[in-house]
Amino acid sequence: MKKEQVVNCQFSVWYPIFKKHTIKSDHNTQPIQTTNSDSDAEEDVQWSDDETTTTATAPEFPEFTSKVLEAINSLGGSVFPKLNWSAPRDANWIALNSSLQCSSLSDIFLLFKSSDFIAHDLTQPFLRCSDQDSPDPVIKYELVLRKWSELIPGGEFRCFVKENKLIAISQRDYTQFYHHILKQEELISQAIQDFFSQHIQYNFLDEDFVFDVYRDCQGRVWLIDLNAFGEVTDSLLFSWDELTSGGEIARQQQQEGPAFRYTTSEVTVQPSPCLSYRIPRDFVDLSTGEDAYKLIDFLKLKKSQQEESEEEESTLQ
Ligand SMILES: Nc1ncnc2c1ncn2[C@@H]1O[C@H](COP(=O)(O)OP(=O)(O)O)[C@@H](O)[C@H]1O
Ligand SMILES: [Mg+2]
Repeated sequence: MKKEQVVNCQFSVWYPIFKKHTIKSDHNTQPIQTTNSDSDAEEDVQWSDDETTTTATAPEFPEFTSKVLEAINSLGGSVFPKLNWSAPRDANWIALNSSLQCSSLSDIFLLFKSSDFIAHDLTQPFLRCSDQDSPDPVIKYELVLRKWSELIPGGEFRCFVKENKLIAISQRDYTQFYHHILKQEELISQAIQDFFSQHIQYNFLDEDFVFDVYRDCQGRVWLIDLNAFGEVTDSLLFSWDELTSGGEIARQQQQEGPAFRYTTSEVTVQPSPCLSYRIPRDFVDLSTGEDAYKLIDFLKLKKSQQEESEEEESTLQ
């Protein structure tokens, strides 16, 4: 995977091409205008009398804030936020509604600040590119706001395209077993192949890429996202070795079309892949006071530990 392929998969590159087939969105790459120039910002620091503590007022971005609010309104009041490539999927646990559904700028800031996926976009977008010696392309960061849409995870699929051929399709939420996929395997695979050949094939800047789709309850297929063809993109129920080797998957593609994989039974159900990004539930409950009983247990435990150590001390004396 080359750096240029990563550049091509930015939202602002693919969205205009496939606008008709994806969720309505707004993206803003303009430099953020602040009312405070740098020198003004310095004046905002108020020195206290003893000169040991300073208080700085948080920077404000009124123009940016009103642009975002306008966009949220025009998208129906709640949005799904992203940066150039990623959404803060690993941070939904921190939001009050435990979801990526945002209706204000502070909702978006909280998710972005808590997300390793967003940090990846900001700090190492070209990780694992094969042309590491070439200079990094200049990236203009963009805040993407998409109309909030309740997507049923069982309707999401990831499609792998190599040399402009759809070679493989994987259930996206592979940790769960969905009976309807098992029942409608042929129908789903065909709908995705038709969508690919009618709207996607030969229309993108690259011949290798990965696209995500959603098949709604009426059977209509929508484009959700475009990703680079390489290890930065999760290969889900395939392995990157299989997808790139030109072996069995490529042979099958030639003979009978793309390989279609989905979770076939409850037995294989696994924990959600984003779970490892969370802090322990107990920690959240304790810090928010959500679970009073847990807090009481915790305090009792602390008290008994304290008593024990006091006892130990007194026996030592
Ligand atoms: N507009 C939306 N409204 C609600 N949920 C969405 C929306 N777009 C995507 N999602 C959900 O978020 C997941 C991740 O979205 P995606 O755009 O692929 O981000 P990423 O590239 O960071 O994985 C999708 O699988 C889908 O379940
Ligand atoms: Mg993606």
